[in-house]
Amino acid sequence: MLKAMDGCILVIFGAYSDLTKRKLLPALYNLQKSGKLSNNFAVVCAGRRNKSWEEYIKDMKAAAGNHVENMDETVWIELRERIYYSKLDFNDKTGYRKLNSTCGRIDKMHNTKGNRIFYMASSASFFESITDNLKRNNMIDNKNTWQRVVIEKPFGKDKETAKGLNNKLRRYFKEKDIYRIDHYLAKEMIQNILVLRFANILFEPVWCNTYIDNVQIISAEVDGVGNRAGYYDSSGALRDMIQNHILQLLALITMEKPGIMDSAGIRKEKTRILKSIKKFKEDKSNIIVLGQYGPGYTGAKYVKGYKEEQGVPSNSRTETLAALKLEIENERWEGVPFYILTGKRLSQKTTCVIVNFKEASASLFKGNCNELENNAIIISIQPKEGVIYRFNGRKAGSENSILPVNMDYCHNCTYEKNSPESYERLLEDAAKGNSSLFTGWEEVESSWELVDSIIEFNRRNCILPFIYESGSKGLKEVEKLTAQDNRIWYGWENCNKNT
Ligand code: BG6
Repeated sequence: MLKAMDGCILVIFGAYSDLTKRKLLPALYNLQKSGKLSNNFAVVCAGRRNKSWEEYIKDMKAAAGNHVENMDETVWIELRERIYYSKLDFNDKTGYRKLNSTCGRIDKMHNTKGNRIFYMASSASFFESITDNLKRNNMIDNKNTWQRVVIEKPFGKDKETAKGLNNKLRRYFKEKDIYRIDHYLAKEMIQNILVLRFANILFEPVWCNTYIDNVQIISAEVDGVGNRAGYYDSSGALRDMIQNHILQLLALITMEKPGIMDSAGIRKEKTRILKSIKKFKEDKSNIIVLGQYGPGYTGAKYVKGYKEEQGVPSNSRTETLAALKLEIENERWEGVPFYILTGKRLSQKTTCVIVNFKEASASLFKGNCNELENNAIIISIQPKEGVIYRFNGRKAGSENSILPVNMDYCHNCTYEKNSPESYERLLEDAAKGNSSLFTGWEEVESSWELVDSIIEFNRRNCILPFIYESGSKGLKEVEKLTAQDNRIWYGWENCNKNT
């Protein structure tokens, strides 16, 4: 069997980072378990702590063990044999010489041929220093061997800083060797959106303002900020979720059909649509709502409010929830509002897209006992993966009553185990040199242009977050966004409902 990860070393900067513990090592474990790691593949974890290999492996086993299903000892032993720990202060120029010779030694042991994936899993403040030092120590060659860089978000704090970082990367790497992560793009149902839209005659003709009334994109989380306050408090929901995941989702839902279904073709169309989202220039304060979680209960568990979380200033005004109305200025979408919501500490974890169609023209069936509803397509991204088509049908056995019914396709019911985790797929693709599930620079830049305009709009209009109770099921402040347009807010509680 051809192994997905072959002939390279994955160098992770941030050996003890949250990302390494919660996502990268569990993903590597699952890849090992499914036989996708070849003998010619190794992992070097670089971090500042003074640890022996034994200590590092012990710490990682405990950390990753919490994020995989019933860790199998044999699989872990196979994996740990290819993991190396290298102590490195990311700003210390001389440390990279040692890292380079460690990698050279591992090349000989694992036949990894000088090829590298440099994975930036550290705090974003080190990204530039790491790339400079890699260059200085001749660790980027891309002639006889290949080197790719994987950059985690945040990719900048605004358009200017993102541009600065990008220019730096482009000095040393070609665009094709820069892998900007947006892990949402590797989610099964997000990959399914273009198939749904462009491989089905049923959907393609109605995907426009003649038939669609409004679209709602919801990403609700139960978790709070956890131990990431240092990053999150200067970011907030707009930068953390909207600039990347939500806008990528919106782009896939609304972009035109690419000439060729390849990475460049898709990126071009995504960029075009992102550029045509109306910037927040006019001062109409009824198109955005910001919130911050207060204390409350998620399930039966009492949880602190955002301001009481460790590392958050007690006077923080950072938004942990953002709901807004977006408009796209092109022929296909003119007049269709896109209502977006993302928030932490809500009652349910769910991500979904609701495409609400206009009223059917025949009103023949209106009245009496009928509960006619407009048609809708609900794309559930997580935790349920699938698509629901909601339409009107005749009530069985009735004289002529009509009621809304669901056609429900469950995507993750067809797998034996859950669909592969995003990070498994992303690591595999980076090793294979397939960048189609990573974001191109133009998309990042266009998303920042929009988000910068929203942040500036909030500043001008003094829009501050209202406090909502943790575990909230619905928020009237958010529902106002649709109510003022005489539309109904779908609500995160409805996304995972079965037929
Ligand atoms: C990350 C954000 O990119 O996505 C987090 O930084 C957020 O704040 C997370 O919790 C959500 O990802 P998922 O896959 O759990 O929906």
